[in-house]
Amino acid sequence: MNTETTTKAPTSERHSDFLKSLVEFTRDHRAARWSGTLSEFLETIFRNDAKGIVRTSHQYTWDMLRANGFDEGFSDGKFRCQLFEDELFGIDDTIGRVLDYFKAASAGSEVGRRLLLLLGPPSGGKSSMVILLKRGLEAYSQTDAGALYAIHGCPVHESPLHLIPHTLRPQFRQTYGVEITGELCPHCTSRLQHEYGGDFMQVPVERIFISEAGRVGVGTYAPHDPTTADIADLVGSVDLSKVSEFGDEGDPRAWSWSGAVFAASRGLLEMIEILKVKREFLYLLLTLTQEKNVKVSRFPLIHLDETIVAHTNFAEFRKFLQEPENEALLDRMVIIQVPYTLDYKEEARIYRKLCSSTQAFREVHLDPHALHVASVFAVLSRLGESEERDADNVKKVRLYAGEDVEGVAPGDAAKMKQKNPEEGLSGVSPRFVINALSNAIIQSEARSLTTMDVLIALKDSIESDVRIDGKKKRKWVDFLVAVRKDFYNRWVKEDVHKALFVSFEQEAQQLLDKYLDEVEAQLDNRTLRDPITSEERKPDERFLRSVEEKIRISESGKLSFRQEVVRKAMGAYKRGDKFTLDSHAPLHDAVEQYLFESRRDVLRLVSSSARPDDETRQKISVVEKRLVDEYGYDAHSAREALNYVTTLLAQE
Ligand SMILES: Nc1ncnc2c1ncn2[C@@H]1O[C@H](COP(=O)(O)OP(=O)(O)OP(=O)(O)O)[C@@H](O)[C@H]1O
Ligand SMILES: [Mg+2]
Ligand SMILES: [Zn+2]
Repeated sequence: MNTETTTKAPTSERHSDFLKSLVEFTRDHRAARWSGTLSEFLETIFRNDAKGIVRTSHQYTWDMLRANGFDEGFSDGKFRCQLFEDELFGIDDTIGRVLDYFKAASAGSEVGRRLLLLLGPPSGGKSSMVILLKRGLEAYSQTDAGALYAIHGCPVHESPLHLIPHTLRPQFRQTYGVEITGELCPHCTSRLQHEYGGDFMQVPVERIFISEAGRVGVGTYAPHDPTTADIADLVGSVDLSKVSEFGDEGDPRAWSWSGAVFAASRGLLEMIEILKVKREFLYLLLTLTQEKNVKVSRFPLIHLDETIVAHTNFAEFRKFLQEPENEALLDRMVIIQVPYTLDYKEEARIYRKLCSSTQAFREVHLDPHALHVASVFAVLSRLGESEERDADNVKKVRLYAGEDVEGVAPGDAAKMKQKNPEEGLSGVSPRFVINALSNAIIQSEARSLTTMDVLIALKDSIESDVRIDGKKKRKWVDFLVAVRKDFYNRWVKEDVHKALFVSFEQEAQQLLDKYLDEVEAQLDNRTLRDPITSEERKPDERFLRSVEEKIRISESGKLSFRQEVVRKAMGAYKRGDKFTLDSHAPLHDAVEQYLFESRRDVLRLVSSSARPDDETRQKISVVEKRLVDEYGYDAHSAREALNYVTTLLAQE
């Protein structure tokens, strides 16, 4: 989108920045490589950071999150993580719960022995969250603090400390003050005997880097067809090509260690659609989290330390709940719901992010409310289907986005959310909206999409979607009507009205100052001096009333209103603040309306003259130009907005 690309650095600069970071990246990378024998490892690396070396996968992940953390600027003192900040919008509570899981698991709590299950509606950000964790781990393993070491050539890149025999471990603990947990894997056990004659101090150790592509520290499992899915996908199978080399199917060196649980060792295993897998898989995974080991055919238990993050949707989850024998399994999971956001401004950020990653979108101009109407629509569809009237839901949408709503205290939003835990678990998904927008863009010839185009595109998408039943279709179309009436009309009117002024902000402030002067004089029974004629005159009661009438302040209520305004103005003055339109919401509306009405005649010109003369055309084009320059429209959408508002006013 135009507004975004212009603020970025020029392309050539971006290119050279990127090349620079590539160079730095490889330099860091090279400097950080390390390899040596276990003996060298213990003497140098381990000695310097025993605690860091023995971290579990949960502790490691929590350290990674903390390394990406920040807590400045948030009055609630909550820990936030940069990793999610620019990618996931409006689901801070959910992210907070995920962070809490890792914090608790890292501290040794029981939750670390349970599988983390993300449960949420389609395209609600579950996969994105796991991807961010994976990318975070990859990047962290490149840093000094995130250095990880493993036995060279080990198929599960296990900790070198596993080489230390059990009989020596108590002494080890006394020497270094840390505990070794875990057993040498069958593969390394075999190599230790065959290649090193049992001399574990000579076994090579290396620094490893987490990499999903390299199958180190990240594993992903997606069920294709549950009926043909083989447990071998998770834990591998005999590698027939190697059997002849090692002479025995039972030799761990003849095993193909290609399963996802091996790749994920030391890091994170993502289980996509986990409840679709066979129960046999589930047991294996739950044992893995709880006991930190897996049983593979003829080998002894294989010790593995990894964090399992799984996700699923509600349909699968309900099916799963219905089978009583699953109860024991549920007990061994930590379930975190990932609902859609209910903040329409955050929802719009999602669309903006998704749009700006597509070429077709970047070439099209969207008017400033196009994404917001879509996001208000989505949020409306996610609110409770309660008896509550639509008017309440309209208020709620504004409240949940942090806007002031008359008659509701700001703190009430949180209470309302608590009262409706189902909100955000169903309704329109970001993907639905993005698909509708794509269709609109493909269909539009002009490289400009207006809010009305978006509303129509959404309506088309609803009506042509065979998955939605008739009743829901009607309901969703009703939401579109509400979005237009209760949100868009207000927004576009305000834009057009403001564009009628050279500097709306300045004129509004002047009017506000004048109002205050007159009110103060009137309350103090003073006269005012005319700046030009220097004549003394009484306060302009007619002016005061014409402002106040815009927000229906009655004759009998005017005194207390004026006193309240003066009190607020004095308060601001004492604090050293300027009393502005933002200081007083009702006065803000009054001043705006007063100014708007004083300029409406220009808008009347738009509709009244079929063939406008030069002067009219000139006046109109000035307004259009301001819409473009200051309010985010392009020529096409500015004209549309102007016409639209003119029709609206004609109906008033
Ligand atoms: N809260 C959010 N903030 C930012 N982007 C989001 C958010 N929710 C969804 N998205 C975006 O929507 C798209 C779909 O999300 P994602 O694939 O993560 O959802 P999911 O929950 O895994 O869905 P599914 O159940 O269909 O697999 C992604 O591109 C993601 O970036
Ligand atoms: Mg997904
Ligand atoms: Zn090993």
